[in-house]
Amino acid sequence: MRIRCDASPSSAQVSISPIGIAATTNPQQTIQPFALYDSLLRLALAKSGSLEITVLDISPRVIDHLQQAQNRARKSEAYVLQLPRGEARRWTPGAVTYWSTFGDRAGESVAPIPPPAILNGTETRAVRIRPEVVLACQPVDLDIVLQRLDLAPAARFDLVIATNMFVYYNALEQNLALENVAAMLKPGGFLLSNDKLVDRPGGVMKSAGSTMVWYTDQPKAGDSVNWYRKQ
Ligand SMILES: C[S@@+](CC[C@H](N)C(=O)[O-])C[C@H]1O[C@@H](n2cnc3c(N)ncnc32)[C@H](O)[C@@H]1O
Repeated sequence: MRIRCDASPSSAQVSISPIGIAATTNPQQTIQPFALYDSLLRLALAKSGSLEITVLDISPRVIDHLQQAQNRARKSEAYVLQLPRGEARRWTPGAVTYWSTFGDRAGESVAPIPPPAILNGTETRAVRIRPEVVLACQPVDLDIVLQRLDLAPAARFDLVIATNMFVYYNALEQNLALENVAAMLKPGGFLLSNDKLVDRPGGVMKSAGSTMVWYTDQPKAGDSVNWYRKQ
C-alpha cells in the first residue's frame, strides 16, 4: 500500500496502495483496503474524500472482485463486510476494541449474516462500506516481484504496506520486490510488512524499526510489524 501525506492532517492528500490484499470466500470479500481507509481516518492522517487507495495484486480473482465492487458502487451500492469473531481464542482487549469499532469511519454497522448453529458462540458484526470508499480503492493488476508502476516523483508513495506477501518468495524474489517497492516510494518513504526482510548491501531500503502486535493470549498469535525506509 502507499500513503502520501503532503500536508497537515487536516488537509492531507493521502494515497494508499496495499500490495496483496486477498479475497476470502463465504462470502467473498476483501478487508484490507477498507481497514486502511478506516484506520487512516481514525488516526486523523486523512480526511474522507482526500484518500486515494491503489490496490496492487497479482491475482485476477482479487482484482476482478474489487472491480465488480466498484461497478456496484457506481450504482450507489455499498459493500458489506462480514466480520465473525470465533470464541476459540481469547483476543487481547485491544484487538476486541479494534474489532468492535472497525469500519465506523468507512461505513456503518448493519445486521450480520447469523452464524450456523454449529458455530454457537461466534460473535458477528457486519459493516456496510460506503460506495465512495469502495471507489477510492483502485485495483491494479501487478506482480510486485517483476513489475512496478512508473510514477512521477510527485506521485510516488510515502508508505507501501505488504502483509503476508513476501513470505511466499525466496531471497532473490524478495530483493526484486524490494527494488520495485523502492522505485515507487518517495525518498524517506516507508514499507510496512509483517515479514522480516534482510537489508541488502547497496540496497536503498533499510530496516528502520519494528513492533510486536499481539492479537490473542496464545503464544505466536501476533505479528512483528517491521518498517523499512527508503534512503
Ligand atoms: C495471504 S494473502 C495476504 C492478504 C493480506 N495482505 C493479509 O495480510 O491478510 C497474499 C496476497 O498477496 C497477493 N500476492 C502474492 N504475490 C504477489 C505479487 N508478486 N505481487 C502482488 N500481489 C501478490 C496474493 O494474490 C494475495 O492476494
